[in-house]
Amino acid sequence: MPSIVTLISGRGSNFEAIVKIAQKEQWQVTFAGVIANHSEAKGLDFARSQGIPAFIVEHREHPSRESFDAALIEKIDALGADLVVLAGFMRILTPAFIRHFEGRLINIHPALLPAFPGLHTHQRALEAGVSEHGATVHFVTEGVDEGPIICQASVPVLVGDDEKSLSARVLAAEHQIYPRAVKWFLDGRLRIDGNQVQLQPPESQLIKL
Ligand code: GAR
Repeated sequence: MPSIVTLISGRGSNFEAIVKIAQKEQWQVTFAGVIANHSEAKGLDFARSQGIPAFIVEHREHPSRESFDAALIEKIDALGADLVVLAGFMRILTPAFIRHFEGRLINIHPALLPAFPGLHTHQRALEAGVSEHGATVHFVTEGVDEGPIICQASVPVLVGDDEKSLSARVLAAEHQIYPRAVKWFLDGRLRIDGNQVQLQPPESQLIKL
């Protein structure tokens, strides 16, 4: 059975959405572990409540990114991961880490990439006055938030939106597309072709909500 290792830094609601849909749809998958980079990550509690092994690899205990990432690689490899899911993991990963998991490392970003890479995406979308915002699941490559896009969800920006209302709408969209993208991966439906992802058989990779 394929196995997934998830990295989180906080609440872990995307991780929870994936696990709940996997349970509901009875996916043939093992959640081999969840790793957080600090002990206060709330998502660890959900993992423990589901009997999913939860680990902390504390980034502050490592003198460098390289040493932290080497510890992560060791832990993930020991767990055995066919797919590594970044779900609100807020550390920049080194090229060595990204190369090690190339083609089996995915991330969710709270914007319609290539728009608004980086942080504070909702605030920046509001300031830019865009009418559509959303979320993107993508393979991770060395450029931050630049890898081949697997799936996107767009949501409208409504009159009167503030960061709170917009981020809640985007988060609900994230919970729809991340499980979907993970399932596509597990079903072997994704082919990376340059900086594009081909979905076989084809199906819309952009969902309007
Ligand atoms: C999500 O909105 C995710 O898109 C974002 O962090 C949040 C994590 O929420 N990720 C990034 O900004 C990555 N750069 P969660 O912990 O509840 O899944």
